Amino acid sequence: MEIHRFEKLWLVASLLLIAGFVATIVYGAVGAGVAMVDNSGGQVAASDPTASSDFRDPGVYQTGDGEYDVYVVARQFSFTPGSGTPIRVPEGSEVTFHIASRDVTHGFNVVGTNLNTMVIPGQVAQLTVEFDDARSYHVACNEYCGAAHHDMTGTIEVVP
Ligand code: CUA
Repeated sequence: MEIHRFEKLWLVASLLLIAGFVATIVYGAVGAGVAMVDNSGGQVAASDPTASSDFRDPGVYQTGDGEYDVYVVARQFSFTPGSGTPIRVPEGSEVTFHIASRDVTHGFNVVGTNLNTMVIPGQVAQLTVEFDDARSYHVACNEYCGAAHHDMTGTIEVVP
């Protein structure tokens, strides 16, 4: 009993393809200088997340050596900190984003990476990532949230 050479070749090719798909899912980099470390979250008051002390003064807070917490409030139609005030962190830092919505469901997507989450009212979207490249990133809301949805943008500057 012998397997035909072409049959064997295609068998191997299909197995490699499957292994490739699995590897993409398991090891898939978040992309372009960003590595996912953790994603979990918590609850906030649905009516007004900013009532929670964490979100009273959104922005960048250093929590350790190369570690930062970034609090972001999303609302129709802006992020705080948003396009006018970039989120600035040093290259190589580990950043935990805490993102809450004041009104409807928004998105928080760092364009060109897989750093992407829904921001659901009443919940804190929480993501820890590492920024390895000094460059700037564009942030976009990717959940349709109303007429000026396309204006909901932000900037992350990873500085050397
Ligand atoms: Cu917020 Cu779309």
